[in-house]
Amino acid sequence: MSFIAEHEREAGFVHVVLITTGSVASIKAPLIVEELLRYQKVKVEAVATKASLAFFTKGDIRNAGSRVWVDEDEWTGTFKIGDPILHIELRRWADVVLVAPCSANTLSKIAHGICDNLVTSLMRALAPTTPTYIFPAMNTLMYEHPLTSEHLRIVRDVVRYNVVGPIGKNLACGDVGVGAMTEWRDIVKIVVDLFQLAPKKQE
Ligand SMILES: Cc1cc2nc3c(=O)[nH]c(=O)nc-3n(C[C@H](O)[C@H](O)[C@H](O)COP(=O)(O)O)c2cc1C
Repeated sequence: MSFIAEHEREAGFVHVVLITTGSVASIKAPLIVEELLRYQKVKVEAVATKASLAFFTKGDIRNAGSRVWVDEDEWTGTFKIGDPILHIELRRWADVVLVAPCSANTLSKIAHGICDNLVTSLMRALAPTTPTYIFPAMNTLMYEHPLTSEHLRIVRDVVRYNVVGPIGKNLACGDVGVGAMTEWRDIVKIVVDLFQLAPKKQE
């Protein structure tokens, strides 16, 4: 299945790329997709790291109304000059990028410019004009690790992404403290407010 931004973009629509990484909070991805698609003129494409697919299935996202792109879609093994390159096409398509959740690992990769999978190649190829939101989600001690604040500083002040959260609550790992992803409804609200989206009319 190939993806060509020019064919997939639709005039007047907001094109949302939802990136998921290997945090338990990825379990919320189908809810985020479903809720975004309750608004008029919105399209969503999900891009998942291998680890994030432990927490939802491609079928869950399909049922919510979208698709999931993974490393294997980038490396089909039959590249010819002129063929579309998935991470470039996805960044051409995106009007806004949500990294929800952002794992400690992917946060660190973004901060260091590493681009060794579809998610981080897409991030590295993003135009600075594409609004990009990072929603960290990790165990409290991972969050309090000195490297995390350094990575967040780089991502916020050097790369100039918007970092939202994490929030404090009972974490899935049993710890209580800061590290949970911002509530999924609040993530959707950021996009709704940014693009002044109107809900679809009831059928
Ligand atoms: C059940 C489970 C839950 C995890 N939850 C988190 C998490 O909330 N945040 C995090 O940063 N890493 C978490 N990890 C570790 C990441 O999945 C791991 O670091 C992985 O390499 C991340 O890869 P990715 O950034 O490419 O998705 C979890 C691992 C497991 C097995």
